[in-house]
Amino acid sequence: MPIEWRKGERQLHLHNDSISYVMRVLESGTLAHLYCGPRLASGHDYSHLVRSSFISRFNQVLDPIPMELPTAGSGDFRVPMLTVRHADGSTVLDLIYREHSITAGKPPLDGLPSTYVDDEAEAETVEIVLVDGHSSLKVRLLTTIYADRPVVTRSMRVTNDGTGDVKLTTAMSAALDLPDSDWHLLQLTGAWARETHIVDAPLVSGTRAVRSQRGSSGHHQNPFILLRRPSTTEAAGEAIGMSLVYSGNFLAQVEVDPYDTVRARIGFDPETIRWQITPGMDLQIPEAVLVWSDDGIGGVSDAYHRLYRERLATGSWRDKPRPVLLNSWEGVYFDFDEDTLVEMATAAKDLGAELFVLDDGWFGQRDDDTSSLGDWTVDLRKLPSGLPELVERVNELGLLFGLWIEPEMVNPRSRLFEEHAEWAVGFPGRPRSELRNQYVLDMSNIDVVDYLERVVGNVLNSAPISYVKWDMNRVITEPYGASLPPERQNEFFHRYMLGVYDLYARLTERFPDILFESCAGGGGRNDPGMLAFAPQAWTSDDTDAIERQRIQYGTSLVYPLVAMGAHVSDVPNHQVGRSTPLDTRAAVAFFGNLGYELDPRKLDDVEVERVQGQIAWYKERRQLLHTGRFHRLVSPFEGDRNETAWMTVADDGRHALVGWYRTLSRPMPGPSLLRLRGLDPGARYRVTIWPDADDWVTRANVMERGGDELMSQGLFLDDHAWESQARGDFQARIFELESLSE
Ligand code: GLA
Repeated sequence: MPIEWRKGERQLHLHNDSISYVMRVLESGTLAHLYCGPRLASGHDYSHLVRSSFISRFNQVLDPIPMELPTAGSGDFRVPMLTVRHADGSTVLDLIYREHSITAGKPPLDGLPSTYVDDEAEAETVEIVLVDGHSSLKVRLLTTIYADRPVVTRSMRVTNDGTGDVKLTTAMSAALDLPDSDWHLLQLTGAWARETHIVDAPLVSGTRAVRSQRGSSGHHQNPFILLRRPSTTEAAGEAIGMSLVYSGNFLAQVEVDPYDTVRARIGFDPETIRWQITPGMDLQIPEAVLVWSDDGIGGVSDAYHRLYRERLATGSWRDKPRPVLLNSWEGVYFDFDEDTLVEMATAAKDLGAELFVLDDGWFGQRDDDTSSLGDWTVDLRKLPSGLPELVERVNELGLLFGLWIEPEMVNPRSRLFEEHAEWAVGFPGRPRSELRNQYVLDMSNIDVVDYLERVVGNVLNSAPISYVKWDMNRVITEPYGASLPPERQNEFFHRYMLGVYDLYARLTERFPDILFESCAGGGGRNDPGMLAFAPQAWTSDDTDAIERQRIQYGTSLVYPLVAMGAHVSDVPNHQVGRSTPLDTRAAVAFFGNLGYELDPRKLDDVEVERVQGQIAWYKERRQLLHTGRFHRLVSPFEGDRNETAWMTVADDGRHALVGWYRTLSRPMPGPSLLRLRGLDPGARYRVTIWPDADDWVTRANVMERGGDELMSQGLFLDDHAWESQARGDFQARIFELESLSE
């Protein structure tokens, strides 16, 4: 059994073949954390891992004791997991163990997305009930261990069994205490058009926080942190990931205390999310997913990729190959009519695309971004025969049809705003920020959710729509929910997210065959919460091939390639003005979920042939790209930041694709090699290169080679100085390795 209970020591040991997670009920009834790391033998008492001199409550400050569910006010001065204000104004919370139960499988969380099992044998869950005797506040702490993954998930449900209101002032999903501070913290940081850049720095005394208070998980920080040992690399060494299955305001924080122990925590942002629980009511706190690996940062990523692909994403598209799409946005923006779209779709079909996506501009009277959000009826000026006719024409070409929506928003210039100004977020009488000329709809109001289900549902019902890109293009300012009483305004941000999840759940249930892609001005809400409903996300509005290397490299720390929308767009690039070769743009987008975002009618014959070749190449290999083991080889955030390399290897090791990219050409390069990973050392591989080129790299690499030497010596990138430098800037090559061994 993966969860072992030792009655004498009151110890719970969760384990599988690779990891152990141990907790223990102390004599005082407090739940202590004993261990998280490589597998420990079962059948043993590990209570000595918490030094006994520390465990006599009220005699000793609790500071150095590792806690499973730390609270404040009783001698633990580190950052807490749960804090409250009781009806009498007091804040002490003494959570004492009452009982626990162990069950097969993993229960769903009420109203919130979470990882799941398809079969109960895949995981085991312990629910521990802890109660504060003074107030009768009850916590049900859920901890699940997967049988075949180095993954532990945490969440809790807080119930008020007392007689007075209790205000939750901090509610984190997980806290993890570690016995030393010799770690580096990695976070994913950025801004619009440069999301998920890796920041990696050693821990120092005090606290470091990444957070969002913008109403969504945001472009600026991702709800994810990773701790690695100083010696840990991509391929080896200890690393721990903490990822939050939530799409709203969050906080992830690491504290190094005066005794050089560490507490990491992740959950709701406590400054902007507080919750009042009236007697008899409860609150479900989101799920945190912890991964431990001894196979380096790459080992942590691999566990997240597989879990999020296989047991977080839901719906009929989860395991299906995702269609290569052509999106209309950068090609024509708001400027189109039915014939333009059909011409674009016809050209897209000729290129080999499988899905035509009509982006912004099809509804209300929307000729630019100043109007019509909220009016989800087709603009008959542009599409006089309506959506069904357009969809039919696109379907007749042999393409699926997809549509952009931004349901959570309203323009002041819209019919919806005229009729329901009170549905826009903001305090009546105070000025409201208009960002991108739009307001946010109050998703904490059930009437808004009902309305959106009806109008968006009508659109999706009106024609055979196969794909929806669900956008969310601004942050939330002046937070206030008009339908909430004053004492519940602190709940607004979370209630907003519950409304979004509710709408997603209703629409995905009603339209199970639609493939949803989430988007928030690119990667402004690229998080596990969204992934549970929309199995792919628009990674960034930045489609420049050089910027994308960084964005996709960082995103891959947590999110699988199949979930990463990656489009080839026109040059000069619309975000940064850079012109990169067409094949370089594709070579980056291949390591994601491939699409094109340009006007295909404008491609010349040579470009058409190249794109046809790209799409055909990708279709043959997308299964490998999306389900293989991804290895990051060369980081664009390290060294001279001039190169990036990564590879995907099939699980049986027989087939691999290596992407190598160089930004600027340098004169007189010395010999340079790219060492590979994850191959079968005993196998012989045929090495080929995409795109074809009669050059030195081809001559040096296209041959049969052993997996052993490819991993210990590597591919040849430069040698003949003149030929190397003459290749110019923005180079990309894909090396394909196919095993010849039986
Ligand atoms: C956002 C998205 C883009 C596009 C526009 C349309 O910026 O990220 O891809 O859909 O909105 O307005």
